[in-house]
Amino acid sequence: VVDIGKLYAQTGAFTFDPGFTSTASCESKITYIDGDEGVLLYRGYPIEQLAEQGDFLETCYLMLFGTLPTEAQKADFDYRVTRHTMVHDQMNRFFTGFRRDAHPMAVMVASVGALSAFYHDSTDITDENQRLIASIRMIAKMPTLAAMAYKYSIGQPFVYPKNDLDYTSNFLRMCYAVPCEEYEVNPIFAKALDKIFILHADHEQNASTSTVRLAGSSGANPFACIAAGIACLWGPAHGGANEAALKMLMEIGKPENVGKYVAKAKDKNDPFRLMGFGHRVYKNYDPRARLMQKVTHEVLKELGHQDDPLLEVAVQLEQIALKDEYFIEKKLYPNIDFYSGITLKAMGFPTDMFTVLFAVARTVGWIAQWAEMIEDPMQKIGRPRQLYVGPAQRDYVPINSRG
Ligand code: ACO
Repeated sequence: VVDIGKLYAQTGAFTFDPGFTSTASCESKITYIDGDEGVLLYRGYPIEQLAEQGDFLETCYLMLFGTLPTEAQKADFDYRVTRHTMVHDQMNRFFTGFRRDAHPMAVMVASVGALSAFYHDSTDITDENQRLIASIRMIAKMPTLAAMAYKYSIGQPFVYPKNDLDYTSNFLRMCYAVPCEEYEVNPIFAKALDKIFILHADHEQNASTSTVRLAGSSGANPFACIAAGIACLWGPAHGGANEAALKMLMEIGKPENVGKYVAKAKDKNDPFRLMGFGHRVYKNYDPRARLMQKVTHEVLKELGHQDDPLLEVAVQLEQIALKDEYFIEKKLYPNIDFYSGITLKAMGFPTDMFTVLFAVARTVGWIAQWAEMIEDPMQKIGRPRQLYVGPAQRDYVPINSRG
């Protein structure tokens, strides 16, 4: 029944590309990836330079406005973000409707979607100023909502933002401070998490970003679009991979077992794969993985855990795999998820918060891509075609005549 010739005649062209592996859905000036060379640029700047020399809010400014800020612009931007970190007081009551054992990503999908019910004054997407306020609100409120989701899951009271702290220190404090007790943010952890946020800020048209664009193409408000992105990110093939990599390292347990697991990964009859290895786009070392590995060492050194058995397993696994014919031939290198789970666990985050942290960082990428799409004069509602493979036309049979 599939008449490709007819479809071609109707549309002028028809491509069938499951998973969109070779179809560009948009033009973008935000992020560039060269998967063969292992290059990642945000607005033209190498990820290495941004992570080593800048901070996360500077990356946010760069993503939104296209240039690095001057000192005055940076101070103004930091101030604007800081002023929006609080969430509406009624959100507290909204949270208490959830079960305590709800997955924090379920809470994030719902609470971020609910922002559009609280902030109607920034949902008119035709108004440039409202679009900017919505963007700033999203970046500012995500850490607050993420920390609230965490605190709620462990039965502790919410900790309000303390806005004389920098963005990431503020987030750590909202997660770990307890009322009536002193809490000092560890600057090494704050710096490490800030870098992790920079590394995850955008990655061009991945599944969640494409979801945000598709949702936004119908004119939906930005809070609803970001909620759609969070729902997509939740999947284990996307944001959940670092959790899977950590579980694998724990299962391997000690360096002596690494060889056995590498052999399993190479066995065609065994579905096991090395989690944190391979990438759809990178056919070289993921540049974020190199930086992530450094951050892991910094955090473990600070904790005095240089001999962490998980790190030993990870290093051993990486060394063996990088010299193995199978991995070389298939161009399988560690990706960002290989080391991030160890780091976040060492910093005290439970595994079900890992994807939430990813969502906090990726919000700026989502919102910058959403804004770019809205401002694009070529923008149309996203409406993929399909290749119909169902039955040909047939006649309705009354129920009493069906055999
Ligand atoms: N371990 C063992 N073999 C692997 C692995 C792996 N991690 N990844 C790919 N391969 C093999 C496949 O079996 C396949 O072999 P074949 O050619 O003999 O059939 C070949 O390499 C190509 O694999 P595909 O799945 O076709 O490659 P694709 O580009 O579609 O997949 C993916 C990339 C999904 C990331 C894959 O490498 C994988 O499953 N990795 C483990 C999960 C993971 O780490 N995901 C995180 C990705 S990064 C992120 O989301 C931020």
